[in-house]
Amino acid sequence: MGALDGRRIVLGVTGGIAAYKAIEVCRRLVDAGAHVSPVMTGGAMRFVGSATFDALASEPTQVSLWDEEHPVPHTRLGQGADLVVVCPATARLLADYRMGRSGDLLTATLMATRAPVVVCPAMHTEMWEQPAVQENVVVLAERGVTIVGPDHGRLAGGDVGAGRLADPVDVIAAIDSILGGGGSSAGGDMAGLEVLVTAGGTREPICPVRYVGNRSSGKQGHAIAVAAAMRGAKVRCVTTQPETAPDRLGIEVVGVETAAEMATAVLDNFGTADMVLMAAAVADFRPVVVAGSKLKKADGAPEIKMEPTTDILAELGHNRSAGQVLVGFAAETADLRQNATSKLESKGIDMIVANDVSAPGVGFGHDTNAVLLIDRGGESSEVPLADKHQVAAAVLDAALNCLHNARDTGTVGGTGEGVTG
Ligand code: CTP
Repeated sequence: MGALDGRRIVLGVTGGIAAYKAIEVCRRLVDAGAHVSPVMTGGAMRFVGSATFDALASEPTQVSLWDEEHPVPHTRLGQGADLVVVCPATARLLADYRMGRSGDLLTATLMATRAPVVVCPAMHTEMWEQPAVQENVVVLAERGVTIVGPDHGRLAGGDVGAGRLADPVDVIAAIDSILGGGGSSAGGDMAGLEVLVTAGGTREPICPVRYVGNRSSGKQGHAIAVAAAMRGAKVRCVTTQPETAPDRLGIEVVGVETAAEMATAVLDNFGTADMVLMAAAVADFRPVVVAGSKLKKADGAPEIKMEPTTDILAELGHNRSAGQVLVGFAAETADLRQNATSKLESKGIDMIVANDVSAPGVGFGHDTNAVLLIDRGGESSEVPLADKHQVAAAVLDAALNCLHNARDTGTVGGTGEGVTG
């Protein structure tokens, strides 16, 4: 039984353009077995209708303090809730909640509950950055409210910046974590495991201004970190994209830039890891010399001599202990299966996650991915184009399988030798 099964959740929706994403949150909560009571503000009703929530949720949507048969609907909802989530939360909601105003059913419900509250702010960057808004968020957090997001990304009207509603998957993850007691007490199928995930593309400096890099956004690695934490694992995420990394659900984010820094961070934390998923795109070569000052055009085209970096995964593959599972990733543009299989073998790992980054919607920078999973025994399966969070779930399912096999048989993956214990 999941942490959300049978739990009574009030889903508050306020009037922001992101209100449509609350529909996805509602559906996921219901799918996870929660009893969902939607409460919409008048503003929310201008963006999305209540009919969709009515169809998806466990109870009809409520909007007003006055239109229910129950004489005190705000106390009924607030007192009966196991958790209240406001998604999206506007600047007005944050201010009202902070000040204790209860002018509508949603704020009155927030006043009337002792249940944990999750608030997911979403607004334009200028609004989000207002000192008043920031102060309200800080005060609410100090009072024990869980603030999820906002993320950085595309906003209404084409602007890009901070203020985008957190991904529905992350909202569910936060709720799940709170209701399950968080971490290993959540009782997920990865409880008690220590997982090390790498994400993003490394940057190898040429001079203080320029670097050699690649197109990896870190999204797939970050999605794996979230998925593992949601399943109860203790997660450390070594990433070149710490500003977009999930620093919640107890995930420890370690920011790095170069392949050498990533190697140090991974090798330092490898000893206690049960599972390592190397989703990062690590540079194979770096400039031998890093110029101390900016290279100038007038000095002519630079000749940059490169030297190999440490192959972190291969290093792990040759130095692992019994029962540790290593998962590599292969971003290819041709001969996917063949290239992936040879990497699996040469690096001495248990499983490889291969994708054809030349296919539409696959890999670098996209929110979606399509992968081929191959394990050491030659078993393979395909995950067709799907959200990176869904791909993360499939990757973890397969990695857990490898872990159970390794521990059942007492086999070290890389060498195939039998060990005891
Ligand atoms: N990797 C690593 N250290 C490196 C390079 C790669 O740990 N210096 C890991 C990546 O994180 C990934 C896997 O190895 O999980 C495969 O990376 P990839 O660059 O595709 O493999 P290479 O062996 O470098 O092969 P290619 O010639 O295709 O670049």
